[in-house]
Amino acid sequence: MYALEFLKKYIYNSLAGTGLARGLQQGSTYIVVVTGILSSKSMEGYPAGYLSDCPGYENEVVITQKSLRYLTLTVVGEGNGYSAKKRKYSYFEINKLIKDPYIDIRKKTLLYVGGYMDIPVYPFAVFIAPIYKRLGYNVMLLDTSHFTIMEYPLAVIYVRAAAKRVAEMLANLTTVGLDPKKLEMVGLSLGGHTMSFIAKNYKNITGQKVSRLTGLDPAGPCFRNLGPEQRLDQSDADFVDVVSTNIDWYGMATPMGHVNYYVNGGEYQPGDILWIPCNIICSHVRAYTIWLAALQNPNSFIAIKCDTIQDARNKNCYDRVPQETNVLGLKTDKNKTGFYFLATHNNFPYYLGEKGLKKENEFFSSHMKEIVDNDSMVL
Ligand SMILES: *[C@@H]1O[C@H](CO)[C@@H](O)[C@H](O)[C@H]1NC(C)=O
Ligand SMILES: *[C@@H]1O[C@H](CO)[C@@H](O)[C@H](O)[C@H]1NC(C)=O
Ligand SMILES: *[C@@H]1O[C@H](CO)[C@@H](O)[C@H](O)[C@H]1NC(C)=O
Ligand SMILES: *[C@@H]1O[C@H](CO)[C@@H](O)[C@H](O)[C@H]1NC(C)=O
Repeated sequence: MYALEFLKKYIYNSLAGTGLARGLQQGSTYIVVVTGILSSKSMEGYPAGYLSDCPGYENEVVITQKSLRYLTLTVVGEGNGYSAKKRKYSYFEINKLIKDPYIDIRKKTLLYVGGYMDIPVYPFAVFIAPIYKRLGYNVMLLDTSHFTIMEYPLAVIYVRAAAKRVAEMLANLTTVGLDPKKLEMVGLSLGGHTMSFIAKNYKNITGQKVSRLTGLDPAGPCFRNLGPEQRLDQSDADFVDVVSTNIDWYGMATPMGHVNYYVNGGEYQPGDILWIPCNIICSHVRAYTIWLAALQNPNSFIAIKCDTIQDARNKNCYDRVPQETNVLGLKTDKNKTGFYFLATHNNFPYYLGEKGLKKENEFFSSHMKEIVDNDSMVL
C-alpha cells in the first residue's frame, strides 16, 4: 500500500501541471502511459556560472610609489625548479633588467603571469620556467601578489591597475630592444585577464601588439559577463589561445582567443576515480598541467573542431564533417581559428594523440563501458 502511494506521488510529480496528474490526484482512473519528458538544454537552461558579477569594477584606483616597489619581474637563469638562478627587478629598476646576463634580446621572451595570490616562488612559476628556458626562451616571472593577496573581488580591481604599470615596464624594455613580436605571455586564471590588461595598455603606449597570449582557464568569477575591453580577448595580441577546463566555476565559457580549447568539454576533468570528477580547483588547475605537458609533448594534444561551444560541452564534435583538427601547444596552427574539443586521459601527461580523435576512446564513456562490459550482471 505504501509503495502504491509512493508510486502515485512519483507519477504525480513527474506529470505535475499536466491534465493526467490532476486526474490522478482526484482519484480518477487512468491508464497512465509514462513516456517520459524529452529534455533539452533550452528547457533545462544553461549554467549561470559561479560569481559572475562583482561590484566596484569602475572604481578609481591609486597605486602608490611604495606599492610599485613590490611590482617585480624576476628573470630566471640556469638551473631547475627551486635552485634556478633568479634576479628580481622592481618597477623602479626596470632599466637594469635588459642588462641581465640571462636576457638575450635576440631570443623570444616568455612572461608568466600568475593568478589569484600566486607568487613566483609557488610551483606554477617554478615548474613552467625551466620548460620555456629549454625551449630557448628568456623567462620572466611577474609578481602581482602585493595586489592580489586580499579578498578576490578586490584583487580583481587592484591587479587591473597594476597591469597598467607592468605595461609601462615592458614599454620601457621595448625602448631598449625588447621586441613585442618576440614577447609571449602565459596567464593562469586571474592571470589570464591580468596579462590581457598588460597587453591592452602596452598596445596603447607603444602602438604595437605583443605576439602571443595563452590563457589557462582565464578566471570566470567577476569577468564572466564583461565585454572584450574588460577581459582577455583575441584583439589583445597577434595570437591568443585559450585552454578551458572549468568553464562554469573558476573559468569561463566565452571564446576569448583565436583558438579556444574546451578540454573534455571544458567543465569536468577526469580524476583518479572515474565516477568522481576531479573537483573544481583540480579541474581549473588542469589547464596549467595540460599546458606543461603540451610544451613537452608537441603535436600530442590533437583537438577536434566544433561548430558551437555547446557541441564541445556535449563532446559532440567527433562526427563533424569534415573532421578538422588543431594541436594544443606552441605548434598550434594559428590560421585554424575557432572552438575545439580536446579529449584527454585522467593523468599526466594526459594526451591521447590520434586516439583522441575517436569517440570510443573518450575517457568517461570508454571507462564506463569497460565497467559495465566486464560485469556479468550476477550479484
Ligand atoms: C620609462 O622610460 C621613461 C623615459 O625614458 C622614463 O621617464 C621612466 O621613468 C621609465 N619608467 C620606468 C618604470 O623605468
Ligand atoms: C586604450 O586607448 C583607448 C583609446 O584612447 C581607450 O579607449 C582604452 O580604454 C585604452 N585602453 C586601456 C587599457 O587603457
Ligand atoms: C596562415 O595565413 C597566413 C596569412 O593568410 C599565411 O601567410 C600563412 O602561410 C598561413 N600559415 C599556415 C600555416 O597555413
Ligand atoms: C575489465 O577487464 C579487463 C580484462 O580482464 C581488465 O584488464 C580491466 O582492468 C577491467 N576493467 C575494469 C574497469 O574493471
